[in-house]
Amino acid sequence: MSEKIVFSGVQPSGALTLGNYLGAIRNFVTLQYEARCYFCVVDLHALTVPQEPERLRAQTLEVARLFIACGLDPAVSTIFVQSHVAAHTQLSWLLECITYVGELRRMTQFKEKARKQEVVSTGLMTYPDLMAADILLYDTTHVPVGEDQKQHLELTRNLAERFNNRFGPIFVVPEPYIAPRQSGSRIMSLTDPTKKMSKSDENPNSYILLTDPPDVIRKKFARAVTDNGREVRYDEKNKPGVSNLMVILSLCSGRSLEEIARTYNSSGYAQFKKDTAEAVIATLEPIQRRYQELVESGAIDQVLCVGAARARQVASAKLAVVQDRMGLVRAQCNEG
Ligand code: AMP
Ligand code: TRP
Repeated sequence: MSEKIVFSGVQPSGALTLGNYLGAIRNFVTLQYEARCYFCVVDLHALTVPQEPERLRAQTLEVARLFIACGLDPAVSTIFVQSHVAAHTQLSWLLECITYVGELRRMTQFKEKARKQEVVSTGLMTYPDLMAADILLYDTTHVPVGEDQKQHLELTRNLAERFNNRFGPIFVVPEPYIAPRQSGSRIMSLTDPTKKMSKSDENPNSYILLTDPPDVIRKKFARAVTDNGREVRYDEKNKPGVSNLMVILSLCSGRSLEEIARTYNSSGYAQFKKDTAEAVIATLEPIQRRYQELVESGAIDQVLCVGAARARQVASAKLAVVQDRMGLVRAQCNEG
């Protein structure tokens, strides 16, 4: 079998949440020992909706530090910032030219985000082309993402196949790598368990940030919405709030859903919520400690330089082949 290559991206559009950790980064940490891995802070994707420049800069570095604090090892994985590797935007343009407007309009995330904006940027619409470029530049075989990204992955696969049919077999057609719901691929909001936990939610009680101090975490879980009745059992449909907390407690404590149901079923919600908060605090404690160390050492700049250099090498070679196949004249000079 050919080599397994993993690529995933996280937007620096706010501090990372427990959903990002349990649904994505935690799995990245395991994957890095099984495959060649690229983990990218996708700052250009964040620009598809308005961003305050200084905040974007700070959050880009924050996400990169959190990657490492969560256990991604820059000696094992390639960790970099999307805008540091020009090939991403260059390939994105080429892919836009084989994408149909109708395909982009149909994207659920585009429709949802567009509804929330006063004016809709072109970048918001072509966002999936940039994501496809991220993935296809590295011959990615597997893309670990949450459920919400499945449609974008499907488009990436279609574009790769379309390109290969027109211009020859250049792109690897990647597979999504989506963990089942019970293993954290969709951690829900603490205030509305029918919605995904998201850093862009207006209500900060709906999410836990990886940098939230322990007393904030305790307060947020104490206020978390639970369902009618008293039983603690896993039932996504009738008990979405309790089921979500059960998944969080299970992932942060290593206890199974059955064991959690047995332990708390007759004791009511209060102890269950308290224990969930404590398990989350214990999970985040070492991450927060390492994060602080990285802030103080300033080591992130060097990590990102090394990551970008490694990524550039692979990406520019792939881009050159694509440009050639599409009929662009190769520049006969070193610059440009
Ligand atoms: P984003 O924050 O939208 O850039 O997402 C970064 C990664 O985290 C993607 O793989 C998402 O699917 C995943 N993710 C974001 N929010 C959640 C959540 N509430 N539950 C599980 N995974 C999530
Ligand atoms: N669109 C993804 C998200 O919002 C982030 C992303 C950008 C990504 N490029 C990627 C994820 C490439 C996987 C692979 O979650």
